[in-house]
Amino acid sequence: MSDTPVRVGIIGMGGFAGAHHQALLKLESLRQSRLVCACDPRADAFAEQQAKWRFTDRGVRVFTDYRDMLDACGHELDVLVIPTPITLHAEMHRAGVERGIPVYLEKPPTLDPDELEAMIACDAQAKKATLVSFNFIIEKPRQSLKARLLAGEFGRLHEARLNVRWPRATSYFTRNDWAGRLQGADGRLILDSCMGNAMAHFVHNLLYWTGVDGQMNWADLRQVRAELYRAHRIEGADTFFVQAATAGDVALRIALTHACSAETCQVEELHCANAVIRYVVGSHYEIRRADGTVEREQLPPFDSVVDNHLAYYRYLRGETDRPATRLVDSRPFVHINNLAYVSTGAITTFPADRTSLVRNPQDNGEYHEVEGLAAALNDFLEKGTWPSPGLFGRTASSRLATPVDLPATRDVVERMIAHNAPA
Ligand SMILES: NC(=O)c1ccc[n+]([C@@H]2O[C@H](COP(=O)([O-])OP(=O)(O)OC[C@H]3O[C@@H](n4cnc5c(N)ncnc54)[C@H](O)[C@@H]3O)[C@@H](O)[C@H]2O)c1
Repeated sequence: MSDTPVRVGIIGMGGFAGAHHQALLKLESLRQSRLVCACDPRADAFAEQQAKWRFTDRGVRVFTDYRDMLDACGHELDVLVIPTPITLHAEMHRAGVERGIPVYLEKPPTLDPDELEAMIACDAQAKKATLVSFNFIIEKPRQSLKARLLAGEFGRLHEARLNVRWPRATSYFTRNDWAGRLQGADGRLILDSCMGNAMAHFVHNLLYWTGVDGQMNWADLRQVRAELYRAHRIEGADTFFVQAATAGDVALRIALTHACSAETCQVEELHCANAVIRYVVGSHYEIRRADGTVEREQLPPFDSVVDNHLAYYRYLRGETDRPATRLVDSRPFVHINNLAYVSTGAITTFPADRTSLVRNPQDNGEYHEVEGLAAALNDFLEKGTWPSPGLFGRTASSRLATPVDLPATRDVVERMIAHNAPA
């Protein structure tokens, strides 16, 4: 398929699947791909979108069951795109691999470490490794900065910090039946949260920077300590304070929240012996050296979905030797997320007298504000100060969790649901 467009099948039409459909229109106009088939259990509900995406003109076949779609069209496909709810990823990935179709899988692959191991084993049988599309690994400036880090230009990397604040309206958590949930009705782990879902990219990025054993290496973890909180009326958490140590002895500090109304930021910060690098995702990076010199670069335009499709197509064509993130590369991310739950033990609801709902006139959404949270996140990042005890009503302290604790996640989550879910 050297110069011919990549033939694509996609599962899903709504939610983030819509961004893939938009990207596929652009890729088709560039003669990079051709959409053969699409499915959604509620395909009829997306009639307007199908018209906008010109399915009839493009000859796209529509199904309501992905297995029927693969039975009918699987033999024609060069890639299967899976931007569906996280708990469906494993079975859909397996269906693609068993039919010999390379898989482009939305991040996170799963948030269940046992399921991830099964997916990794399944992928070992695949003709082409699955891409897990964490958006930012393919960024060229990121790749070249990582090479410079590994070459020792900035001295030893000893600490990495992540500061992400993305306001999310209360409606975000009612958009589907799995948002903000810890566990499904079938007892399966969901663990949906800012860390597990929307901000997963940045956590995976931090593990990428701190994977000091090679250019395409993600750090394994030695230990994790975390405190989890919620302002939204959800089963899970919307605010994470996480401290960790990697196997290569880099310290991590991660502060994430959806419980804010205005300020948005996404900053990755690397503290090296001779420089501090601030990588402001979507904007620029800045390197401040110990000798006082500063290097600043604007990040070039980046279309995360289109560019990730193109990068995966290059791998499928044999022009590169691996996808940016494989399933096995997602292991540290899935582990840090699980160990955060084991460590925190309980999710603390922010005290009512410190929270308020703010209406944004631009989108008419309702956003939670927590008094003192911005300062607490800053103190944690800059000084390592934990909010507990005292700040937000949390009394029990978290415990250090290590990878041997991973099997405890399920019990911890069940205790959280039994004792700590909001009324
Ligand atoms: N890369 C990014 O920037 C980015 C951004 C947002 C979401 N995501 C990821 O995209 C994935 C989907 O998230 P979402 O919030 O859009 O989910 P969602 O719940 O909105 O579902 C997405 C689509 O899957 C369809 N679907 C549900 N069940 C299905 C089934 N049995 N068969 C076929 N289709 C089915 C839904 O109808 C919908 O069209 C997740 O993995 C999420 O983390 C990635």
